[in-house]
Amino acid sequence: MGHKIAIYPGSFDPITYGHIDIIKRATVLFDEVIIAVALNISKKPLFSEAERMDMIREAVKDSPNIYVDSFRGLLVQYAREKGAQAVIRGLRAVSDFEYELQMAQVNRKLDENLITVFLMPHEKYSYLNSTIVKELAKFNGNISCFVPPHVEEKLIQKLRP
Ligand code: PNS
Repeated sequence: MGHKIAIYPGSFDPITYGHIDIIKRATVLFDEVIIAVALNISKKPLFSEAERMDMIREAVKDSPNIYVDSFRGLLVQYAREKGAQAVIRGLRAVSDFEYELQMAQVNRKLDENLITVFLMPHEKYSYLNSTIVKELAKFNGNISCFVPPHVEEKLIQKLRP
């Protein structure tokens, strides 16, 4: 079957326990998982490329076969360069579905050999996203159950002057 590589792309601004849950599931299925921070997408990130990558690295440091990288431009092009067979995306709720379906279909149109694999996080993370975590952090909400301690620390530094 060969060495199976999956790309897990996203903004990761910042990484949450929801992302980490998906990464753990992906490592069961693939020999190698590359977490790829997407740059030059239209969203304006709170954290720099280096900050986002450092926070991911720290979160997955005890897991073998996980690599952290960043990319610019098209995901299909990047996946091809890495020799990846699959793209991982997390699906939390039906509300994610339409956008994810659209992306998966566009990516398949661009490269029919690249397979999108949807994984569902544990239901305790089904309502979680980075935007909500940033909002909570800004207004002193408790975020310790949503992000690892090192990410919580960075969020507090950045958002609570
Ligand atoms: O975490 P996000 O922001 O939902 O991730 C979205 C991401 C980065 C996966 C998506 O925007 C992407 O793949 N961008 C790279 C540009 C690209 O390939 N676009 C065509 C796919 S529709």
